[in-house]
Parts: sequence; structure tokens; C-alpha cells
Amino acid sequence: MAKLKTSFVCQSCGSSYSRWTGRCESCGEWNSIVEEVVDSGVGAGPRSAKSSGRPTVLVPLSGETESAARVETGIAELDRVTGGGFVRGSALLVGGDPGIGKSTLLLQAAAALANKGKRVVYISGEEAVAQVRLRAQRLDLGEAPVQLASETSVEIILATLEAGPPPDLVIIDSIQTLWTERVDSAPGTVTQVRTSAQALTRFAKKSGAGVVLVGHVTKDGQIAGPRVVEHMVDAVLYFEGDASHTFRILRGVKNRYGATDEIGVFEMTTLGLREVQNPSALFLDGRDQGAAGSAVFAGMEGTRPLLVEIQALVAPSPLGTPRRAVVGWDSSRLSMVLAVLETRCGVRIGANDIYLNVAGGLKVVEPAADLAVAAALISSLTGKPLPPDGVYFGEISLAGGIRPVAHAGLRLRETEKLGFGAVGTGRLGSNDKAGGLQVSEFSQLSDLVARIAGSAGGRAAAEE
Ligand code: TYD
Ligand code: MG
Repeated sequence: MAKLKTSFVCQSCGSSYSRWTGRCESCGEWNSIVEEVVDSGVGAGPRSAKSSGRPTVLVPLSGETESAARVETGIAELDRVTGGGFVRGSALLVGGDPGIGKSTLLLQAAAALANKGKRVVYISGEEAVAQVRLRAQRLDLGEAPVQLASETSVEIILATLEAGPPPDLVIIDSIQTLWTERVDSAPGTVTQVRTSAQALTRFAKKSGAGVVLVGHVTKDGQIAGPRVVEHMVDAVLYFEGDASHTFRILRGVKNRYGATDEIGVFEMTTLGLREVQNPSALFLDGRDQGAAGSAVFAGMEGTRPLLVEIQALVAPSPLGTPRRAVVGWDSSRLSMVLAVLETRCGVRIGANDIYLNVAGGLKVVEPAADLAVAAALISSLTGKPLPPDGVYFGEISLAGGIRPVAHAGLRLRETEKLGFGAVGTGRLGSNDKAGGLQVSEFSQLSDLVARIAGSAGGRAAAEE
């Protein structure tokens, strides 16, 4: 018998080393390297497959194609992100922090499909059958004809799936709990997860079933261990949200059968996840209208416009080095906006403590939020509320100018749809229709500062 080959594999990113080290050179994680037994079959096909080496047929790019056959769940926010439903014969990975609602979402999807007469198999490796049943009853889905099992062995799962008629959808919750006899490593290690995911992906291709793998994500946003699984599957969706808020966003990050810039918005309720058709209304709910330091930003999440409230508090600082606290936005971006306000617009703001918060727990990453942040800051500094029906978007340049941003038309339409009346932004394109909105196009940040600060009153603001 051949000598067992071992390798040292980082459990965070999957890099392998020939010797143990305390720190993974690839991802920088400490103490993540574990010795795993590998056989020559890792990453290769089934053991029994003979390599016949016969030539394959080469074909031109043009020719007959069929569009991917899909199974639609009827949950519109989910179908939107997958690009119109789960694709038959493909594997999809749903990642997200523990407790965010992955099992809930997939149980709801499973029940919706089963109720439509599809054969849906739900394999839970984390929860016992009774626990899944209990959840289904709480969600009022106890009667849906979903076929359920609690199992972690890949060989048993495959044998079960291959026994009956081919399923339309298989849900594996979660990939980290599976183990296969084909490798000797402990369950949950990279080698196990990779080999299990490979076997299930192969089953999807062979049987024509849609296979959904659930994966947990580590705190730095990587799917724990099986980063490699991302490359094996046809689509990767992330389910994200803030545990202290009820909204959840399902985001496509990879999709071989559709666009990746789609998001689906859900709200976690006592009756499971509810679709949110109008996310802007959710994020603006309970907004403190008429308070100084609050500005509404017309942002984009993928291809969807989303209005959120940006709150700023500028307070005199007793400290030599004033505090800066930012939630939901990039703090270096805040420093930049402050520097531009200070040097280009003559606003003395830097010596204050500054707190910035994106309401509702959303994370904004677009530079287009610059203008709304600046408006909120000036409003708080001067103590003057912004017009309650005003919305802002635009990127601020280091020279103090305001640059136009992408999708202005969509942002304007969403603004109007939600009943706002005025927009402050950079220069708009000729075909960005403003509808009934009153649009103020600012070319310089100092113009906005002057507009908000007005001529009289407020705590020392613009000098010019
Ligand atoms: P779950 O789907 O188990 O998360 P994951 O599979 O991603 O780990 O969701 C768990 C959380 O969702 C739990 O904290 C309770 C909450 N929840 C509700 O608020 N309402 C519900 O109807 C359900 C089923 C769960
Ligand atoms: Mg779960």
C-alpha cells in the first residue's frame, strides 16, 4: 500500500503547505493550518474512472443553444437574484453568517417549490429532523411535501438522491457538516468540504437537479474553509444583514447563468422572511424629519436604486485629537470629505468630534454618497435642517468639484417615486429626466455649503 501523503492546509483560505507554520502566508490567518491526509484523488475525478484519453469533438462558437432550464420558486426577490430561478443541472452556493437566515430562506424556497409539485429534497446536516419540522410548523409550511433527511455522509446522501426519480431541487444545509469516505481528513476541513462539494456538483450535472449548498462565512467575509467551493459552483449568493436589524440582502456575487449585480431584499419577521418590494421605504421608515444632520442619499445596490438616511453629528471636542466614529461608511472617505470641506470650502469643522451613521444598518460603499455626507455634516455643524423632501447624490473630487455619478436617471426616478420633491447633485446628463423634481445641479461643493449655511445664523460655518 502506498504511503499516506499528508499536507498542511489552511482552514481559512485552503492554501496548502509542505510544512506546518503558525501563520498562513496566503491569507495571514494565525493558527489556521491543519495537517490533512490527502490521497492522489483530491481534486481528481472518481477513483474508478479510467483515463481513456480519447479526443473530444471541437465545435464552433455559433450553433444551437438552449437557454438554461430553470425552476422558479415564486419568491420574486430570490428569483431575481438567481436570474429567474434555480438552474437545473447546476450547483449554487448560498453563503452568510451563522444565524442570518439561510436555512429559513431555503426552507421557504423548498416549500414553495414542493407546493408547486416539484420534487424537493432538503438534507440538513446541522439540525435534526424534529428541529427542521418545528421551524416549518412555525413558518406555517408544515404541510408542504418537502422530502427531508438529517444526514452528513456524502455517500449516503448520493445513494438516497439516486434512488428515486431525479429531484428538481436539492438543498444541502450546510456543506461544512458533510464528510466523505473518499478522504481521511476530519469533517469540516478544507479537503473534506472540497471533495464533498465536488461530488455534489457532479451529481447536479449528471442528474439535472439544481443543487443548493449552504456555507457559513467567517468574520472577514470568506466562506469558512471552502473558499475553493466558490470556484466549483455555477453561482454564489451571499445572504447578509445586520443581526440587530431585521432587513436582509441576498446578493449575487457570481453567476454563470445571469447577472451578478442583482440584490433581493427581505425582512426577518416572526413568520420567516418576508419579501420587501420597496426597500427604500423600509430604510427611510422612522426618519427624523426636520432634524439637523440628517440627509437622504439616493444610492444604488446593484441595479436597484435605494434611498437611505445618512446621519451626522458634529460636536465640539474636548480632546486634542477629535473623535471620528463611522458606522456603515468608509472612514477614510469621511476624512477626505472633511479635508475638502476644510481646505476648498473654508469650513472649520476638523476640530470637532464627528459621528456618522447610515441608518438601518446598511453599508454604503459608493463614492456617490459623498455629497449626502457633506450635506449632513454641514447641516449638523450649522444646526440648520436640510429640506425634508430633499435627496442628495454626487461624488466629491479632491479639488472641491462635484462629479456626476452613474445611474443618475434611476436614482431620480426612485426619488420621485418615494414622494421627494428636490434633488441636490452634480451635473446631470442630457437624458437623465428629472420629471417633476426640483433639481439643483452643483458644480462646486462650496455652492452646496453656501446653500445650506445660508447667509445668517448657525454656528460659524462657511467663511465665504
Ligand atoms: P436561520 O435560518 O437558522 O439562520 P442560518 O441558517 O443562516 O444560520 O435563522 C436563524 C435566526 O432567524 C434565528 O436567530 C431566529 C430568526 N428567525 C426569525 O426571526 N423568524 C423566523 O420565523 C425564523 C424561522 C427564524
Ligand atoms: Mg442554518
